Amino acid sequence: MKIAVFISGTGRNLKNLIEHQDKVGFEIRLVVADREAPGLQYATNAKLPFYIVRPEQRSPAAYSQEMFDLCRNVDYICLAGFLPYLYVYREWKNRILNIHPSLLPAFGGKKMYGMRVHNAVIEHGCQWSGCTVHLVDHLFDHGPILVQKIVPVQKNDTPEILAQRVFEQELIAYPEALSLLQRQKNIKP
Ligand code: GRF
Repeated sequence: MKIAVFISGTGRNLKNLIEHQDKVGFEIRLVVADREAPGLQYATNAKLPFYIVRPEQRSPAAYSQEMFDLCRNVDYICLAGFLPYLYVYREWKNRILNIHPSLLPAFGGKKMYGMRVHNAVIEHGCQWSGCTVHLVDHLFDHGPILVQKIVPVQKNDTPEILAQRVFEQELIAYPEALSLLQRQKNIKP
């Protein structure tokens, strides 16, 4: 199974996916960022081809098309901390994955990323949080769920402490979702 990874930030999930390629049996063919993302260093270290494609003034459809044109030889695209909206053309339906640091459908959506998510979870008094890997549809943080991992929210948690606990589960969840896709014939493109 060949994949592309899209990033905007620190690339910790990219690093994790790079490390799981052999064990799970997928191959990262390219990395694409929408900006000079610090995480591109992991692509460089692993000698993976990478591209920076900025949204600039284009429509989401035009931007997405340019991104997808780079991915003609991959089976799946994994969004890993990638922020711009992508327009999911029909040929990419059920072929784009995203990871989100909450138990979707709670605490997702356009402005829900980073510490905002964990802040909101704590402010709501949630006793549980976690992460979700899902297939991407036409809405932000939306689409069929593949894997979820749950963590407790402790009484004295700060958003940063909770984020770290959730992130430890992200490291397990994304490789698990890819492994699931390899095995599940009914979610094939
Ligand atoms: C994580 O919270 C992940 O769920 C979200 O982006 C964050 C990780 O970014 N979608 P990165 O992998 O460190 O760049």
